Amino acid sequence: MKPIAELRYRVHPGGCLQGKLRVPGDKSISHRAVMLGSLATGVTRVSGFLEGEDSLATLHAFRRMGVSIQGPEAGRLEIAGVGMHGLEAPADGCLDLGNSGTSMRLLCGLLAGQRFDTRLSGDSSLCKRPMGRVTLPLSQMGAFIETTPEGTAPLCIRGGRPLHGIRYELPVASAQVKSSLLLAGLYAQGETCVVEPVPTRDHTERMLEGFGYPLRRAGAKISVVGGGELTGRSIDVPADISSSAFFLVGASIARGSDLYLEHVGINPTRDGVITILRLMGADITVLNPRSVGGEPVADLRVRAAPLHGVVIPADLVPLAIDEFPAIFVAAACAKGETQLTGAEELRVKESDRIQVMADGLRVLGIDARPAPDGMIIRGGRLSGGRVSSQGDHRVAMAFAIAGLAAAEEIEIEECDNVNTSFPGFATLAQGLGLAIREWRSE
Ligand code: S3P
Repeated sequence: MKPIAELRYRVHPGGCLQGKLRVPGDKSISHRAVMLGSLATGVTRVSGFLEGEDSLATLHAFRRMGVSIQGPEAGRLEIAGVGMHGLEAPADGCLDLGNSGTSMRLLCGLLAGQRFDTRLSGDSSLCKRPMGRVTLPLSQMGAFIETTPEGTAPLCIRGGRPLHGIRYELPVASAQVKSSLLLAGLYAQGETCVVEPVPTRDHTERMLEGFGYPLRRAGAKISVVGGGELTGRSIDVPADISSSAFFLVGASIARGSDLYLEHVGINPTRDGVITILRLMGADITVLNPRSVGGEPVADLRVRAAPLHGVVIPADLVPLAIDEFPAIFVAAACAKGETQLTGAEELRVKESDRIQVMADGLRVLGIDARPAPDGMIIRGGRLSGGRVSSQGDHRVAMAFAIAGLAAAEEIEIEECDNVNTSFPGFATLAQGLGLAIREWRSE
């Protein structure tokens, strides 16, 4: 069979971004809406659902476990919850989760509490990512999960094992690990208590509360007691701040830009990108702050502004963990040096984002010095050239918006995975002023 040709972007240099936009729904919230909606009693109606490959992988997984889900249609889903014990084994026992780390890690906890066995697999990037961070604490709770000798997927989860609550201090700041343990905790006897070293995104906690599940939060500790119930509800998913980040950076670096981003989720555990860009001199205004179904939402106005390098405060790293590819582009266009440390997690994302971004920025003529846990970037004039995204959606979009400040054309390889988090990115960006073209290589 002829291999499917790979998608590339070609970005003509210059231009600016103007207009109004609403980026697709938040990926983290979309995953959780399907998971908790499926386990609830009664119907859950979701609007603003992200129709990207990652959240669709979660949706298909629950359909394969017997949950009836209508949609998505224009971001709307209707989930007929089966209750805490209503999931069924998938026909062949296997769930393919594609590129989605969130699906795999959260499902690992949730499936450890079911009566049936499951095998979780994914694409080559997902099968390289560390899973021991969830399987080890889950095994302390009584779960039985097999990984490869390297601690990676495929994962075989043995069902029907009684789980018991534990107190677990997270060795890495990870919302995925925290969420996985809390989901297993719903099925465990007694209390499961997770202690975070620093705050990470708290969508699981907020959504559990929204579904009526009692949860205790005291400082860095989050606890649930197993055996409760979830009650179906309506969920309005805000626009994803992680997808908005490309436009916040793009409009900041391209003279003449003025953008209005609507209905963006600005949960304080996710808004580090706004704080960091403002520290760099960005002109971002938060308008109409409101609460939508337990999540803070606002409109954002961003206008071009001269940026300068900063030392990124360590406490902001987990609050902006997915936005560093875009922030690195801002740093490349800023006056002076930007330093990032304490971000070793970037090396185990969909790609090694420190190395892949440093390699690409160097191709574009920028002095980017990678370190084990971060990078030093000296701002300069972006030239042009061909860069590889290594199949990482956020790297591909970061280099695309870099075209606004480049002197020559930028070609970006392996862009198919942009569909995991931001379907329609190129068309939307083009409508706002980015000179981007998609093409399939031979
Ligand atoms: C996510 C948590 C983060 C983030 C990922 C989504 C989530 O991962 O990078 O894109 O939805 O819980 P970690 O918790 O591993 O940092």
